[in-house]
Amino acid sequence: NVYAAILAGGSGTRMGNPEKPKQFLMLGSKPIIAHTVEKFCAEGVFERVLVLCPESWIQKTQDLLRRYCPDCCQDVAVIAGGSTRNDTVRNAISYLCENHAVDDSSIIVTHDAVRPFVSHRIIEENIQAAIDCGACDTVVPATDTIVQSADGKVISSIPDRSQLYQGQTPQSFKLLELKALMESLLPDEEAVLTDACKIYTLRGKAVALVRGDVSNMKITYPQDLRVATALMGSRRA
Ligand code: CTP
Repeated sequence: NVYAAILAGGSGTRMGNPEKPKQFLMLGSKPIIAHTVEKFCAEGVFERVLVLCPESWIQKTQDLLRRYCPDCCQDVAVIAGGSTRNDTVRNAISYLCENHAVDDSSIIVTHDAVRPFVSHRIIEENIQAAIDCGACDTVVPATDTIVQSADGKVISSIPDRSQLYQGQTPQSFKLLELKALMESLLPDEEAVLTDACKIYTLRGKAVALVRGDVSNMKITYPQDLRVATALMGSRRA
């Protein structure tokens, strides 16, 4: 069984719109989150598409999905996310384990609600890589030179760019293995392991790379929403 978890539990502080988290802002004709959910439902392979949003937004999220993607609703469940991104992933795992027949072959595809341009190819390759390898991350080669600085004042090192990638989502996993790894985290690990794939690398487990796409952008700042709006418009044109 394959499940999707759309992570929409954040408050979008960098977008600077505190009363409405960025995933609920309009992008063209519908809210960002509706575009993302639609992409996953269109795949037709997910037993359940879970949407995890702030507790106070559950009803509104259900309403807007009914309005903007009425054809998807039977596949979707909306539940509360957590206070950190990892907690939101944890809530997804708990819900699926309690409500579905999860087994060792079950796959969870986790995706940022604020990456509405994810493609069919990327989702398909994620599912395959998670089946083959157990875990995968979606990445694009780094375009800018990445400069490392330990103190924020002077350069400590400049790693070889040919080995550097920027992480996107989806990140996909064998669900029960991810559950076990997350449960094994010690409190000090929890503080630094903000990325689910990093848990695997810390435990010496392989994470396959899936080729992302520059258009699979994350909407973080107001400028990103302007870029996304232009991209959406050009795709329609
Ligand atoms: N996310 C989540 N649960 C959290 C925090 C983040 O599901 N507790 C989700 C966000 O809703 C978003 C994705 O993770 O879809 C990527 O996170 P980010 O862009 O950092 O979102 P925010 O945390 O909302 O933004 P900011 O850091 O600007 O507050």
